[in-house]
Amino acid sequence: MSQPLLSDDDLQRLSEFLYRQTGMLFGPAKRYYIERRVADRMAAAGAGGFGAYFAVLRADAREREALINAFTVNETYFYREEHQLACLSGELLPDLIRGRTPGDKVRIWSAPCSTGEEAYSIAIWLLENWRMVDAYNVEIIGSDIDTRALEDARAGFYGERALSRLPEALKGAYFETAKRHHRWRIIEDLRESVTFTPANLVDAASLAAQGLFDVIFCRNVLIYFDDASRLTAANNLYDRLAAGGYLCLGHTESMNRISERFVTRRFADAIVYQRPEQGP
Ligand SMILES: C[S@@+](CC[C@H](N)C(=O)[O-])C[C@H]1O[C@@H](n2cnc3c(N)ncnc32)[C@H](O)[C@@H]1O
Repeated sequence: MSQPLLSDDDLQRLSEFLYRQTGMLFGPAKRYYIERRVADRMAAAGAGGFGAYFAVLRADAREREALINAFTVNETYFYREEHQLACLSGELLPDLIRGRTPGDKVRIWSAPCSTGEEAYSIAIWLLENWRMVDAYNVEIIGSDIDTRALEDARAGFYGERALSRLPEALKGAYFETAKRHHRWRIIEDLRESVTFTPANLVDAASLAAQGLFDVIFCRNVLIYFDDASRLTAANNLYDRLAAGGYLCLGHTESMNRISERFVTRRFADAIVYQRPEQGP
């Protein structure tokens, strides 16, 4: 049998490093997943063994970024969990603009946005389904820890799989028909209307740089975290919500076992978590 690339100690050191940097927990059962990714990074960095690679990792911020990018799971697609988008236009936004005046800002955050499908879906959904979209100054930000995914989000090229849930008419309206390598490009107007920026859910300072939001979509990432990093992320997101702002999680995720600070709101289309109007 061939020697494993990492000793048990190496595996633990690397897992702890990734956990501290990202909140994602890769236990010993993920040895194969970890070794495949770290082998690629060791080859790219020209490191002969794990000890040498770990020294590079400690000294070089760009290698840390490349390693993190290699470990993220970026699965996403347009109009994922569409019922939450219906809740956004049907319930959350009408509630949030009560007491505001046309022209006011409404800030929506896709965190994490992966390669951009979620943030662009929010933009398309609102253009199609929220009749007040032109009356308010809607700002959509997408952020992720994975800087390579963010580059793809900014470029805006997508394959058939990412677009498979999007109605054909919307594909025609919001994507350029000129295909490159069988990919469709989201139109320039939309690319310019969404801002993509790095932010780490377990690093309060990187989130604080984005300001306060009315609605945050934090979907399908907490499943990769353990209880401690889920709580850190929940507190960080709470701090980024304006009073009365809403947090949407993925359908397999629930705030109830993580934090009691949010009010659980059950709407017809989705369960959403709200920062109370008053309170710390
Ligand atoms: C499965 S995707 C989910 C994308 C989108 N929200 C959706 O539901 O389709 C998970 C994303 O979480 C990102 N991620 C993992 N840890 C993160 C962290 N600590 N901070 C920010 N993003 C993180 C990954 O880079 C990946 O792009």
